[in-house]
Amino acid sequence: MQKQTIDAIQIIEIPKISDPDGRGNLAVVEKNTLPYEVKRVYYLYDVPSDASRGGHAHIELQQCLIALSGSFDVLLDDGNNRTKVHLNKPNRGLIIPSGIWRELENFSSGAVCLALVSEVYKEEDYIRDYNAFVSYKTM
Ligand code: TYD
Repeated sequence: MQKQTIDAIQIIEIPKISDPDGRGNLAVVEKNTLPYEVKRVYYLYDVPSDASRGGHAHIELQQCLIALSGSFDVLLDDGNNRTKVHLNKPNRGLIIPSGIWRELENFSSGAVCLALVSEVYKEEDYIRDYNAFVSYKTM
């Protein structure tokens, strides 16, 4: 949504089942864990520590990012305000609504960023130019 602000960003705790016999944890994302239906799953890995991913906003797509392994920072911008979220726990999800600019950076070695998203891939849904994004938000 065009007028969405960074206040609509959510950090959720993904339900975790810890094992009584010390065999580790199991985290579950199922129907109703996220505020939308997941239509696509992808993940980023082997990202160099000096690389920046993202650098775009989506018109419709909503997504949840999870640091399955390692850590990284997500810079979020609604055209007026910015915030930064550090993700470093496999049972924490960052829900980014549509209409928010995001940049992912500072990936640790071995970091894996899982994205659970609400739409199939459509290049027309991306705004990849920051100035165009700011104009879109003020339209
Ligand atoms: P992009 O979404 O720009 O990646 P990031 O935000 O992580 O930097 O996508 C990178 C490239 O991969 C771009 O050319 C589009 C392509 N792509 C697909 O073909 N399918 C997909 O599901 C995604 C997410 C990207």
